[in-house]
Amino acid sequence: MSYAAADVFARQVAQKPDSVFGLATGSTPIGLYDELAKRYSEGKLDFSKAKSFNLDEYYPIKRTHEQSYYYFMNHYLFDKVNFAETHIPDGETDNPEQECVDYDAKIKAAGGVDLQLLGIGFNGHVGFNEPSSTYMMRTNLTDLTNSTLEANSRFFSEGEIQPTTALTIGFGAIFSAKKILLLISGAGKAEIAKKLFDDKIYTDIPASLLLLHPDVTVMMDKAAAEG
Ligand code: PGA
Repeated sequence: MSYAAADVFARQVAQKPDSVFGLATGSTPIGLYDELAKRYSEGKLDFSKAKSFNLDEYYPIKRTHEQSYYYFMNHYLFDKVNFAETHIPDGETDNPEQECVDYDAKIKAAGGVDLQLLGIGFNGHVGFNEPSSTYMMRTNLTDLTNSTLEANSRFFSEGEIQPTTALTIGFGAIFSAKKILLLISGAGKAEIAKKLFDDKIYTDIPASLLLLHPDVTVMMDKAAAEG
């Protein structure tokens, strides 16, 4: 899955060197980022004209915190490849509302996202757009659901404070991406993955809205596909 996903990235940057990539965090894209770092070190990839925008960030969180997505992205990708510009919502800002407005403006100024990478939560979230009766179009400060807090608690050590809110891009930015690449990995995701192939929009599964986008590729590992 990671190798095939890296091929999609490689094709994108070869066709359009100044591509804007939408990037994701979590355990799912780590294999892809490793593969991109490997290909870059072998001289097979060049992101020197490309930009990136991450989906989300905990709020509040220090950039130096090992669980911040700032730290994650530098560790797994940005320290190893040569993007011209990288952007992540600022988990340290004193003014999250303004940060959301500014983040959307930066994505727009960059011309929108060419290739949006997404993972999926056990509850069907994309970015930190959690199941709800309404979905936000713009970047926003959101409460994390118990399901997400529980899923991510494994990364925080005991006694460490886990943020319960996050900054996330909304469906406006996701849907304005020209292409979407959704990665699903692990047996734990088999159930939610199966729902995406029901040919139905589930209002309580944010990822099912992606069925409305004209250019979505879903890649799964065997464990996720066995549902
Ligand atoms: P995971 O997270 O890859 O760590 O399962 C995916 C997500 O929550 O979007």
